[in-house]
Amino acid sequence: MARNKIKQGTKLPEHIAIIMDGNGRWAKKRLMPRSFGHKQGMERMIGLMERAFELGVNYITVYALSTENLRRPQEELEGLYNLIRNHFTSYMDRICAKGVRLRAIGDISLLPQDVQDILSSSEQKTAGYAGKGVNIALCYGARSEIVRAANLAVERGEKVTEESFSKLLYTGDQPDPELIIRTGKEVRLSNFLLYQAAYSELYFSDKMFPEFSDKDLEKAIVWYSGRTRRFGKTDEQL
Ligand code: FPP
Repeated sequence: MARNKIKQGTKLPEHIAIIMDGNGRWAKKRLMPRSFGHKQGMERMIGLMERAFELGVNYITVYALSTENLRRPQEELEGLYNLIRNHFTSYMDRICAKGVRLRAIGDISLLPQDVQDILSSSEQKTAGYAGKGVNIALCYGARSEIVRAANLAVERGEKVTEESFSKLLYTGDQPDPELIIRTGKEVRLSNFLLYQAAYSELYFSDKMFPEFSDKDLEKAIVWYSGRTRRFGKTDEQL
């Protein structure tokens, strides 16, 4: 049965990005290993994606692993890779069944080959879809994304504009995220979507990611809906 929509007249972001922080602390509080927190986090990630698409959001970007996270103990990294090995394809098939294109963004070549293969197989299966997308940021860092885009422009001998440059980013064919949510009590962007976030509304939640519910997502969207986005103009000019 279809669940209630949020209040009529709520302005929906077209693209939501999420920094999924707090899995480790959530697990530690329950005397469980960090990998348990990541597993719960992955399930929550899928639940939030389903709810967001159901509400009418078209693009979701999630920060699953930063370039800096690659310095974590091998055991924790293997736990994350095992989540991809064991669950990613079935979860993503569920999300993407409704015409959602999946993209793994970041330096995917730093991942084990079998994990890369799983990601590219989901990417290929959904490559024909347009208009709705999920970006999973893995081995991702915004500064290296920007440098990569700059090098692409140099290789092509192109002088770029703000607009043409943004097309060289991983999210080039998508709208910038209007709303970025970070869970886990921290209030920073941590090298996430720095170029795309220029005008994003930033929503910080004290909840740890595994406990960030569908209701919390709806609360963030309602908060976003109440923001006045002036893009440098005055209220009178809007
Ligand atoms: C940061 O918080 C979170 C991560 C490094 C991993 C996020 C991953 C998932 C939510 C699910 C897995 C998804 C895929 C595609 C593998 P933290 O866990 O470091 O939290 P802490 O700050 O409490 O230690």
